[in-house]
Amino acid sequence: MIISEKAKVFIEQEDNFGAHNYHPLPVVLSKGKGAFVWDVDGKRYFDFLSAYSAVNQGHCHPKIVKALCDQAQTLCLTSRAFYNDCLGPYEEFATKYFGYDKLLPMNSGAEAVETALKLGRRWGYIKKGIPEDQAIIIVCEGNFHGRTISIVSMSSDPDSYSQYGPFTPGFVKIPYNDSDALERVLDKCGDRTAAFIVEPIQGEAGVFVPDKGYLTKCYNACKKHNVLFIADEVQTGIARTGRLLCCDHENIHPDILILGKAISGGVLPISAVLANNEIMLTIKPGEHGSTFGGFPLAAKVAVAALEVVQEEHLTEKAEYLGKIFREELTNFHSPFIKQVRGMGLLNAIVTTPIEGKEAWDICLKMAEYGLIAKPTHKHIIRFAPPLVITETELREAIEIIKRAFKELE
Ligand SMILES: Cc1ncc(COP(=O)(O)O)c(C=O)c1O
Repeated sequence: MIISEKAKVFIEQEDNFGAHNYHPLPVVLSKGKGAFVWDVDGKRYFDFLSAYSAVNQGHCHPKIVKALCDQAQTLCLTSRAFYNDCLGPYEEFATKYFGYDKLLPMNSGAEAVETALKLGRRWGYIKKGIPEDQAIIIVCEGNFHGRTISIVSMSSDPDSYSQYGPFTPGFVKIPYNDSDALERVLDKCGDRTAAFIVEPIQGEAGVFVPDKGYLTKCYNACKKHNVLFIADEVQTGIARTGRLLCCDHENIHPDILILGKAISGGVLPISAVLANNEIMLTIKPGEHGSTFGGFPLAAKVAVAALEVVQEEHLTEKAEYLGKIFREELTNFHSPFIKQVRGMGLLNAIVTTPIEGKEAWDICLKMAEYGLIAKPTHKHIIRFAPPLVITETELREAIEIIKRAFKELE
């Protein structure tokens, strides 16, 4: 892949002055619209990452950007020391939208996960009667819930946790997609367990889709032992998998729901935790918060972003287009392709390296042909375009993907 002199300047600048905590594809973007982004040389790409599923509503969606601009000229930040005229309407709108009593607004996905963990423990002590400091939260191997110390304490990925210890205690790890393992831990220490936290599909692990019925079995096991079922839908939520929430595929209503990314359509870092009163009201004034959480700008942007999902039928689109994507690529044969998997428009191709050529090389080739996607875990490529992509655009993108695989043979 040829990198222009103009692009090199930006790449070197990030290299020289930025921390080296990411390894980006050598593409320097400067503009986005709908399902497309453009680089500094004016070349157009299909965006098949959507900022890890934050841009479900498409880049620079006019309605969301208008909400942002209008509010930015009116009132941006008040802190929660005072009331404002945006947060209440957002909270009412979002709780009705997702079917919960209350919403707790935060900013990043990781903060929302932290909030859910605190809520789970708090509920465990106050409502379930777990002895002080003994609460257990059960987590799954292969999870990705973010990057804070407590969250990496739950991780089984050495890249995430190595040399960041000492870690937060109180987490028990079990294999993903194994409801028997959950039952075994609950049989042994259900009385001390406050919550089980799970991604309905493990996104960062490589779009790992669990067996049908897994979530239901886990949910039922939690109910049997009076344990909260926490769904981390930061990546899978908000229409991405062909349902508003991925848990809707199994009609599960999590006790605590964690959302982030697409709740703003990729316009601001906005996240949220939703739960009913019995859980949410265990946190009292002064016991948790964030200066920016639920700020007026975020409140307006989130309402607009959630309205777009309904108005543009993005859930139905993800379901319909996802089937086309998987069908087309499952029927396409390449020695590099081991498996195609996913739900809605959250999909992945598991690749087999051949003669030293890996997923990274395929991503470079696709970028050359005008489509950007990124490997996760070296041999898996995630494909998650904005849900506003049209069928014609999707079919064009599929041809680029096929061409890139063929070219490397
Ligand atoms: C399932 C899940 N939870 C939490 C996070 C963390 O979100 P953030 O990067 O906004 O902190 C991510 C990010 O990819 C995620 O995929």
